[in-house]
Amino acid sequence: MKVAPKIAEAYEKARTTRLNSYSPYSKFKVGAALVTKSGKFITGCNVENASYGGTVCAERTAILKAISERETAFSDIVVVTDAAEPAFPCAFCLQVMAEFFDPETKIYLADTEGVRSVHKFKSLLPKPFGPMQLKTAKATAKKKN
Ligand code: THU
Repeated sequence: MKVAPKIAEAYEKARTTRLNSYSPYSKFKVGAALVTKSGKFITGCNVENASYGGTVCAERTAILKAISERETAFSDIVVVTDAAEPAFPCAFCLQVMAEFFDPETKIYLADTEGVRSVHKFKSLLPKPFGPMQLKTAKATAKKKN
């Protein structure tokens, strides 16, 4: 699909970063590129681990890199795989996105040929677990004590 120049640039970065994927177990390479609200790009790839559970997805790699660089506001993320149907972010990644994305942040799904679809974050995770739930729990705990 046709995308804005900024997204096309993010796509190229995600596609290139996908080649850095460390995925000796699944052989499934994923690249991601975040676009910050100030217009910067932060990339990530999946990094697997022999424990399997220690694996970090491309989206989370990008988000964790961004936060550690004090970039906390994102307008878009582009995710590139070579799956026949471009892959949606996993539920762990959606939960991490919930911490930092706006409901309107756009998630572009792409393969090695180009961007295939775009989704608002709120449509992929309409009811995230968030700080509100923690606040409620604390209030309840206080009442009991
Ligand atoms: N993976 C990602 O990096 N992002 C996704 O959205 C889905 C899955 C990675 C994790 C693992 O290295 C491999 O793809 C297979 O699950």
